Amino acid sequence: MTMIKIVFAICLASVLIGAACSIAQTDQPILKEVFAGHFLIGAALNDDAVSGKDPRAAEIVEKQFNTITAENVMKWEKIHPVLKSYAFDAADRFVDFGLKNKMTVIGHTLIWHAQVPHWVFVDSAGTLVSRDAMLARMHDHIATVVGRYKGKVKGWDVVNEALTDDGGLVKNKWLRTIGEDYVSKAYEYAHEADPDAELYYNDFSLDKPAKRDAAVRLVKDLQSKGLRIDGVGIQGHWGMDYPIREDLDAFIDSIGALGVKVMVTEMDVDILPPAFKYMGADITMKADLKKELNPYVDGLPEEAQKRLTDRYSELFAQLLSHRGIVSRVTLWGVYDKTSWLNDWPVRGRTSYPLLFDRNYQPKAAFYALVKTAEAKR
Ligand code: G3I
Repeated sequence: MTMIKIVFAICLASVLIGAACSIAQTDQPILKEVFAGHFLIGAALNDDAVSGKDPRAAEIVEKQFNTITAENVMKWEKIHPVLKSYAFDAADRFVDFGLKNKMTVIGHTLIWHAQVPHWVFVDSAGTLVSRDAMLARMHDHIATVVGRYKGKVKGWDVVNEALTDDGGLVKNKWLRTIGEDYVSKAYEYAHEADPDAELYYNDFSLDKPAKRDAAVRLVKDLQSKGLRIDGVGIQGHWGMDYPIREDLDAFIDSIGALGVKVMVTEMDVDILPPAFKYMGADITMKADLKKELNPYVDGLPEEAQKRLTDRYSELFAQLLSHRGIVSRVTLWGVYDKTSWLNDWPVRGRTSYPLLFDRNYQPKAAFYALVKTAEAKR
């Protein structure tokens, strides 16, 4: 048997048993090489990818990406579940994985209104605590978490999703207990805990003009107080027709003009029909809506695959045109099967938002991005 036949036979056999065809993978382009000199390229990781439960996801990450973000394990409810005790195991695994692979490790996130337990804001009687008590709790959390990973985590999403679409501050419990300066206090404490760590502000829909202007004000405010702010992350949960090109350009230019980095921190592209009307529903229970809201259960038809591929190329071409300002693009997940978009805004859909498919194989969008990046050299 010739070598080609042997390779073919091994590939065929591995496809048949559903395993990876590692020989074919050696020919795969490598995103971190393709985007070298443009920006860092990465993925958000769940614990399965680093704990050994999902070794094929880990293999993709090790091969393709040079930066990782904690999808959930560093959020308050996970890392600091009760007042006087922290749970570092999963976060330690995540950080160790990144360091072992010489990756830029991003911590997500210190101060957010979601995935933070209610006890954080109340005393033993259930009443909201005072400003001073709240600042002390915030300080303890940030000093402990950032301090533990000092010199290991390159940058932190210090405050996440603090702005409303019309440019105000989200009325969350941080604001209620501390006041507007909860934002600047978080940056002050994070810098104190690790003076060398980069500090970011992270949010969605920052392409919307009112929210963009609010982010600009937020950065200027921190800068005017002499606080460290290194960049703004636009999450990048994008769709087939949003964001509008001009709005994304304007956002990148406005933030870049402040002398800080722009990062796309949670990118995915959703091709499924909008389902916000049914927020929280389990689609598998809604026989009448299954077909309409979950049309690609058996795979993405060629026409849809092409639209998704073109949209990814278009977005990356735009990001590449801002080289020097956009410093990192992180996909929100490794492969389609584990994306949060299978369960949001409704549960139980079959979603296709990432670059690797449900069988861990690179999609047409992956190869299109390689071409897009090479054309920009
Ligand atoms: O771990 C539990 C599991 O034990 C339980 O059986 C299961 C049942 O619901 O839930 C599991 O936890 C879920 C967790 O994801 C891990 O899968 C939570 O319910 C679920 O709420 C959580 O969702 C995360 C979401 O943030 C929470 O707000 C998503 O994974 C995560 O991708 C998403 O990420 C956010 C960013 O942090 C901020 N920007 C938006 C982005 C998307 O919502």
